[in-house]
Amino acid sequence: MSLPRLAVLISGTGRNLKAILDATHAGLIAAEPALVLSSKADAAGLAHALDYGIPTLVLEPGAYPDREAYDAALAAALEHRCADLIALAGFMRILTPEFVRRLRGRLFNIHPSLLPKYPGLRTHARALAAGDAEHGASVHYVTEELDGGPVILRGSTPVQPGDTVETLGERVMQEIELKIYPQALAWAASGRLQLTGTNTVLLDGRELTAPLMLQSGPAS
Ligand code: GRF
Repeated sequence: MSLPRLAVLISGTGRNLKAILDATHAGLIAAEPALVLSSKADAAGLAHALDYGIPTLVLEPGAYPDREAYDAALAAALEHRCADLIALAGFMRILTPEFVRRLRGRLFNIHPSLLPKYPGLRTHARALAAGDAEHGASVHYVTEELDGGPVILRGSTPVQPGDTVETLGERVMQEIELKIYPQALAWAASGRLQLTGTNTVLLDGRELTAPLMLQSGPAS
């Protein structure tokens, strides 16, 4: 049986991309990396795709008249590569409802907060400003609502006294993001995850009534 084809969409450093490619290479994600697509020609993450010999494509928004045209080109590129699983990994674009509908059930995203807390940007600063005791990251299916699709897997870490945006962000990245995204994609690649028509997540055929949780770091 052929492996599902995985596309990863990036705009920046690509630490999540590297973790996904490492896990795929190690056989932990049973998928064939088919494409790394970047919205920026100078995204540092593209180097990871080159290291693994994976085809890359750059689609820069400036080359398209509007968001609809960009997303149509994006969807066409993904369909041309027969992408079964599409992982948004720091892809800094808001997607049109039409794009999300067209690829529904195949689109995953990682977000650096304990969703539903802090959709959008500056999540680490917002968690610190709110005095949160815990912060983390979430992998979710992408739906039309920004950072609002059903959450599959989260991980949390205690906010430490003296944490800054940088220290907290780095801990969330290293201890949580780089673990939960490969894990969730491994489930998806093995056919264990599904998104139902009513936006619930099934893992092994059972409804997730709450996101799964990866605990990280020492208890404070
Ligand atoms: C990550 O924090 C991810 O959660 C967010 O954008 C960042 C991308 O970082 N969506 P990288 O490109 O994976 O290094």
